[in-house]
Amino acid sequence: ISNDNQSVLSAYEWLTKLYHHLLRYAKDGKDGYQYFKDRGISDEAIDIFQLGYAPNLKDFTAEFLNKKGFNQAILVKAGLLSLQDDNSVTDRFRGRVMFPIRNNLGKTIGFGGRTISGGEPKYLNSAESELFQKSKLLYNFDLAKKHIRKENEVILFEGYMDVISAYQADIKNVIATLGTSLTEGQAKLLKRYVDTVIICYDGDKAGLEATYKAANLLRKVGCQIKVANLKDNMDPDNFIKMHGGEAFNNEVIQASDTYISFYMRYLMKDYNLSLEGDRINYIEAVVKELAMIESSVEREFYLQQLSKEYNISIETLASELQGHRQQVD
Ligand code: CTP
Ligand code: MN
Ligand code: MN
Ligand code: MN
Ligand code: MN
Repeated sequence: ISNDNQSVLSAYEWLTKLYHHLLRYAKDGKDGYQYFKDRGISDEAIDIFQLGYAPNLKDFTAEFLNKKGFNQAILVKAGLLSLQDDNSVTDRFRGRVMFPIRNNLGKTIGFGGRTISGGEPKYLNSAESELFQKSKLLYNFDLAKKHIRKENEVILFEGYMDVISAYQADIKNVIATLGTSLTEGQAKLLKRYVDTVIICYDGDKAGLEATYKAANLLRKVGCQIKVANLKDNMDPDNFIKMHGGEAFNNEVIQASDTYISFYMRYLMKDYNLSLEGDRINYIEAVVKELAMIESSVEREFYLQQLSKEYNISIETLASELQGHRQQVD
């Protein structure tokens, strides 16, 4: 690790403590504290996740780090400070609640900062760097690891708040990507720790598309997957706030779909099932996917389901499937 990176790590360590302390105990941080209280986050969760607040001031952080003797150019490069046109530096994170993003060793290597006043962007993250690479990181992986191993299952969310809400509800095998789609590197990392990944993305259009991509990537690296089905634009954090952790576990996590059930739901978006032509195309597309399933018992199960739902004889469906099977066998 280079001297510059060492220095950035040290700045992150100071700032994690400073922002957390402000949020928890100082007048300058009370807006941030109130924000988390309004969202139902406990003091204990605030402490575990080292949540903090960066005050809405021009050079609060810059001054603090300057006094500690940090080289400003290095901090600008790391995206902790911003360079102005006149070459002066100002704080990059202002008036935001701060989510420290930790590496495998529990050290902060980046921040996600959320506006508390509706500003844009909603979340501002540290700049990409050698030290902070979103495509390789999973939020909360360090704390979740032992629970993931124990349960042989991991729940994958979209956001920081989803992770924190679940953790607070005592569901601890939880992680999130950092506002990007899941990468092959992240999928392979997960495969080293678990067999089963439960994808639990937001119940909106973006979440559905991201689920499809993540599901196939995870299957490709050999993970078993399940897919939670959140409706009505809910996200996991909303659901837990509204119905509690137990309902979340029973009605969302335990009720997760198999990949194929998810795929049947996902495919529907491309078809208008009240039209006969679309209905036929839809069924053919589903059968084609069913042909890929290795277990004949499983294939039979879904064929029965289709047969009942669309009132088509099981023989017709089975012979259609057989046609696709020949390409697999
Ligand atoms: N994200 C980001 N930049 C944005 C929006 C989102 O980096 N402008 C990332 C954050 O990591 C966020 C995740 O994408 O947690 C999921 O986005 P979204 O569902 O919009 O946010 P929530 O996590 O639901 O945030 P909140 O509940 O605070 O509104
Ligand atoms: Mn604390
Ligand atoms: Mn979302
Ligand atoms: Mn969300
Ligand atoms: Mn949310």
